[in-house]
Amino acid sequence: MCGIIGYIGPKVAYPILLTGLKRMEYRGYDSAGISTISIEDNQRAVNIVKKQGKVSNLENKQTELQGNLGLAHTRWATHGQPSELNSHPHFNDDKSLMLVHNGIIENYLTIKRNLEQRGYVFHTQTDTEVLTKLIDYYHKKCKQKLSTTLQNYEQKKDPLELALRAALHDVVGAYGIVLFHKDTNKLYAAKHGSPLVIGIGKNEHFVASDPAAFLDHTRRVLYLEDEDIAIIKENSYELKSLCSHNGECIKRKEDLVDWDITAVEKNGYEHFMLKEIMEQPQTLANCLAGRLDPQFNDIKFTLKLTLNFIKNIKRISIIACGTSSYAAMAGKFLIEKYLRIPTEVEVASEWRYKNPIISKDDLVIVISQSGETADTLAALKLAKQFGAKTFGIINVVGSTMSREVDSGIYIHAGPEICVASTKAFTAQVLCLNFLLIKLGKIRGDLTETQIQRMISNLLNTPELVKQSLNNIEQIKAAANLIKDKQSIFYLGRGINFATAKEGAIKIKEISYIHAEDFASGEMKHGPIALLEKGFPVVTFVNKNDPLYEKNLSSIQEAKARGAYIIVVADHIDSTLQSYADTILQVPKVPDYLQPLINTIPLQLLAYYTAKLRGCEIDQPKNLAKSVTVE
Ligand code: G6P
Repeated sequence: MCGIIGYIGPKVAYPILLTGLKRMEYRGYDSAGISTISIEDNQRAVNIVKKQGKVSNLENKQTELQGNLGLAHTRWATHGQPSELNSHPHFNDDKSLMLVHNGIIENYLTIKRNLEQRGYVFHTQTDTEVLTKLIDYYHKKCKQKLSTTLQNYEQKKDPLELALRAALHDVVGAYGIVLFHKDTNKLYAAKHGSPLVIGIGKNEHFVASDPAAFLDHTRRVLYLEDEDIAIIKENSYELKSLCSHNGECIKRKEDLVDWDITAVEKNGYEHFMLKEIMEQPQTLANCLAGRLDPQFNDIKFTLKLTLNFIKNIKRISIIACGTSSYAAMAGKFLIEKYLRIPTEVEVASEWRYKNPIISKDDLVIVISQSGETADTLAALKLAKQFGAKTFGIINVVGSTMSREVDSGIYIHAGPEICVASTKAFTAQVLCLNFLLIKLGKIRGDLTETQIQRMISNLLNTPELVKQSLNNIEQIKAAANLIKDKQSIFYLGRGINFATAKEGAIKIKEISYIHAEDFASGEMKHGPIALLEKGFPVVTFVNKNDPLYEKNLSSIQEAKARGAYIIVVADHIDSTLQSYADTILQVPKVPDYLQPLINTIPLQLLAYYTAKLRGCEIDQPKNLAKSVTVE
């Protein structure tokens, strides 16, 4: 949801900014812009190029964008349609102040009206232009005030820093912003809700929404926290808090990014999505690594919860959005079945506003690939306010959620670049199994034998996923059969209702075919009216499922109306062959691993269908990977 990068140092800024934007294009890709400061004959000039569409439209602009200081932005429109005019950076009237923004300023209309009364004119429909001009307004005021003050210490103050503070105090909403002023060699950054990270190089600094943007220059990073203001120069940076009026500097521990740039490259694959699907045996192996006890009787990770709390958990709430919420549904099924703890799953955007029932005996689990999704983050903060214990299942190391939760587990899937999530989902399901075993062991809900069996099955997941990735030719044939359809049903029962949801969203997101998911038993209560000859229905049959017969009945109901049946199954026999038009075979696994295994052919089905339809697979229309606004 918008990618930001800024650079200050001895190198030419433009190529660094352009590469950084390309690496963050997954965050938004409807328009992009770059601005730099160049110096010629001691004259400082601000340069700016903005384009509607992809970041590649900013290529070959080195002559227009000279200089060693700059900032850049790739946009996912919130206020105002995607256009060159609405794209970032935004600026004041004389173009001395340039600003890029990720987030939403909720009270921008009120601020805009006030500024209009003071003579400001607005040219775009964006909230960002309003924020830029608000800072400009305070900047002019502060400069005037400081030039008339007689006190020395006042004169040492930086008027732009004061203006930034004043403006951000007026603002309601979320922001990650980077700005510069033509007359100073500094970048200013501030964060509230949207991620920003400083990259610390040798005599150079970077600031971006994601460290991937600058990882070929430095791995040394400092993650900004909410209410931080950073003033970044070539050789140093200062960190301050918006909450402190004295402007004293804060010291915070730096981090080292532990993955390298190959993780964010395609490595020979045509699309990031295919690469990310194919690397699942490895990402799951990474997720398992070091966490399993050699005796197969425990999972190693820290649950910062007392024994007493764990034994008396009254309820678990799992809160997430999108694909992560489908992993959550699988988790609910498992926790209720094996631990008998009442568990609710709710999408964060609903939960946070429903005045949820939260008590101190509740465990609130958040699941998020990015660790930045605005609704999930707000839900997490709400849960903490009410005194619930919180636990995170998160991919991005150092993300805001990972720092907010009481305890948690990283899924170690590595950077996921394709907007449609694949490897994060399977690793999330694996981590939910870890949590299941951990809680089951402590509470005594699972026997030692059960735990040993479960752990040994979990250890097999990389190999089982490898086997599930073997069906490519058959999946391509199924994709060919559904590629021109208007609509598809995904039906699932029990834990595979979550898999059905994940399968349906995958095909919607990247192939734009309408797809709906239903609990299999619900089809007859309405959706069946839509079935007709050739209507594709995707579902699951697992031989040892206690509801095996019922799954076959659902298929029969659809088949009787002429539906085209695609079954993900762990066996092939004459019964199944008589029911299904296409069988996508996967290895036989217990229910707690079924969403992880059964989802693999559905990821590939979505991928190959989208490819046959000529869709933009990694960057589907209207979507963004990391939704840091409401
Ligand atoms: C966006 C993405 C989805 C993702 C969802 C939740 O909508 O397009 O792929 O599942 O956000 O993201 P999170 O990072 O919180 O898992």
